[in-house]
Amino acid sequence: MTKSTFSAAQTADRVLIFDTTLRDGEQSPGATMSHAEKLEIAGLLDDMGVDIIEAGFPIASEGDFAAVSEIAKNARNSVICGLSRANYKDIDRCWEAIRFAPKPRIHTFIGTSPLHRDITKLSQDDMITRIHDTVTHARNLCDDVQWSAMDAIRTERDYLCRVVETAIKAGASTINIPDTVGYTLPTESAEIIQMLLERVPGADQVIFATHCHNDLGMATANSLAAVAAGARQIECTINGLGERAGNTALEEVVMALKVRKDLMPYQTRIDTTKIMNLSRRVSQVSGFPVQFNKAIVGKNAFLHESGIHQDGVLKNVETFEIMRPADIGITETNIAMGKHSGRAALRSKLSDLGYELAENQLNDVFVRFKALADRKKEIYDEDLTALMTDSAANTDSDVLQVKWLRVVCGSEGQSASLKMTVNGVEHSAETVGDGPVDAVFNAVKAIFPHAARLQLYQVQAVTEGTDAQATVSVRMEENGRIVTGSAADTDTILASVKAYVGALNRLILRREKTAPDADVKGVSYKSV
Ligand code: KIV
Ligand code: ZN
Repeated sequence: MTKSTFSAAQTADRVLIFDTTLRDGEQSPGATMSHAEKLEIAGLLDDMGVDIIEAGFPIASEGDFAAVSEIAKNARNSVICGLSRANYKDIDRCWEAIRFAPKPRIHTFIGTSPLHRDITKLSQDDMITRIHDTVTHARNLCDDVQWSAMDAIRTERDYLCRVVETAIKAGASTINIPDTVGYTLPTESAEIIQMLLERVPGADQVIFATHCHNDLGMATANSLAAVAAGARQIECTINGLGERAGNTALEEVVMALKVRKDLMPYQTRIDTTKIMNLSRRVSQVSGFPVQFNKAIVGKNAFLHESGIHQDGVLKNVETFEIMRPADIGITETNIAMGKHSGRAALRSKLSDLGYELAENQLNDVFVRFKALADRKKEIYDEDLTALMTDSAANTDSDVLQVKWLRVVCGSEGQSASLKMTVNGVEHSAETVGDGPVDAVFNAVKAIFPHAARLQLYQVQAVTEGTDAQATVSVRMEENGRIVTGSAADTDTILASVKAYVGALNRLILRREKTAPDADVKGVSYKSV
């Protein structure tokens, strides 16, 4: 029947990992990634063993199209998938973007629940025709077609069976059953997959996927329940990034399958030692910090604070640890580097932390490393990670660049003098404010007037001690567009201005990005 990359028979004891960090994850308000960042993340996902990478939504914008095309051309082992609504124009554009991937996949979807049928004004029968026509069209272009029933969980069961049967007959080889609004519970998640496998003709010939959102904090549990019932593809994102409360976290389902293989005997192809590095990179490029107590990748996930726990772990690690830090790539030795460390040592340390740098990138980072080592005696892994965040977030090609800053603060009042370039032209401003950070942000506004509103300003010490670097994160909003910026420095005010300017640079990029119908959830389906 189909010549798709994966067959139902091959996945009897395997679960395919479908990562949608670059599509559903990037839909998180403020999580916009640059072209280069998307390419880098896709490369890391491919190396880690992700089976399918959803690289973007090609019709959403020229930027999305360009990123998906380049990711497709550079793919090695992973299937590269693009998203498209249920119309020919979307599907054609998607195919154009992914066609040069060694293993391309078209993913097309339509909202099937009564609420979505109301929006699209399609009757049940008209929607069946639409699904048949669009999946057939996609199959004429590409051997590997995935079809999704958006809001499947809130779709009438009989109708869900009809739409799934239609998509299978038209040639879809993967059928995705999304819990679009994070509404389901594990029992129901399993029951729906089981029902489809029992009732839909041809269901045993396709792979069922589960795609859960985390609005009730159930995404991981719901995904695993679907697998136990017969789903063989989990759709997820790194750090659970995604709209609202996010998507299923890749690291959680993969480690759950690894740790509890006694109960869930299904293999994945994921090299789990690459998880921590990917988590850090996604957090850096998306500007979304990982909460300290986040399962698997949170800073505290392997910390034992209480005496009883520490004692137990020292005697036998299994007392309080169900997995080892090394399983997810946390290196146990955090040996400090300093101003006498050379380029080779820095390269090797960065490589341990998962950063493989080209010669010119290493040169740039080495200069920054030396500058930091002059100010800070001991440089720990966390300092290097912060340094890399800073290098990635603030680059020489940015429209706005901070050149020089002096701040006066104390009981007499606060003022700032700032020099910045805007498109290479130098400007300066002297301002006052309610505190040093306010004074500096006012200086940026004087040089580059903007209407964006600061929604969040957050400072975190990277390591301990008064000479520790501070990582500053900011979130800003302009006309519904949300952007984030982050920067690190031993000088908190300098980190603050760099983070603020970084967010403005992202906003400039977002303004340039034209997104005609980019909102996946507010789609119109008037015609194919
Ligand atoms: O949550 C959802 O329903 C989606 C679809 C586009 C698959 O992301
Ligand atoms: Zn989704």
